[in-house]
Amino acid sequence: MSKPDVIVLPAKAEVTRAAADRVVAAAASSIGARGRFTFALSGGSTPRALFELLASEAYRSRVDWARTDVCFGDERCVPPDDPQSNYRMAREALLEHVPARVHRMRGEDEPAAAASAYERELRELLGATPRVDLVLLGMGDNGHTASLFPGLHAVEERERWVVAEYVAEVSMWRLTVTPVVLNASAEVLFLVAGADKAAMLHRVLEGPRDARALPAQVVAPRDGRLTWLVDAAAAAALEQRPT
Ligand code: 6PG
Repeated sequence: MSKPDVIVLPAKAEVTRAAADRVVAAAASSIGARGRFTFALSGGSTPRALFELLASEAYRSRVDWARTDVCFGDERCVPPDDPQSNYRMAREALLEHVPARVHRMRGEDEPAAAASAYERELRELLGATPRVDLVLLGMGDNGHTASLFPGLHAVEERERWVVAEYVAEVSMWRLTVTPVVLNASAEVLFLVAGADKAAMLHRVLEGPRDARALPAQVVAPRDGRLTWLVDAAAAAALEQRPT
């Protein structure tokens, strides 16, 4: 495990472009090495702009989507056409415009059964080790990432790849991959933008370690790269301004 790379860019537009370039590079290197690319998406508002850029004329042909398997890091337990569905957002912004194979979490099913079914699907896709080529993550202003929420069990899971948990904070069941998957991945890319994330970014990157309270701290790929792409507003409280 190496130290995270923290890259500060002027604003969200540059974060989005840099992320798109990382996706293009990860796809090319994975497809060059093994003939396919596995890409795990996150929900939230920051990735939507990335998905739209990846679907745009300028970027679409730069990823070999036919050799790409898209999966999800987390999902809200709602039907796939619900406005809160991460799958729906990704489908509208990206997946209906490219020929990727899509593996969605079934938010409409009973949560525990949906989590087990998704773990089986990931095992079929990835084999014995959950080494996803590129995992996209965001961070909430409470330090959550994927659907690993502060003080709940999912962040401490060390066996299962996918779990379901009721998150009182958002009054909703969530499905999420666990640290087992995140920390076996080849590359994890956090996208963080906006002043409302500044205090938490400082705590997560520079404060004392307490992954149970700050789940974003649990992400540390054992044999992979960890990069934080952040905008200047989110980086404003960092003491060590990365160059
Ligand atoms: C979700 C996410 C979640 C998200 C963060 C940050 O389903 O809500 O996967 O973990 O990444 O809440 O979201 P923003 O990027 O929208 O701030």
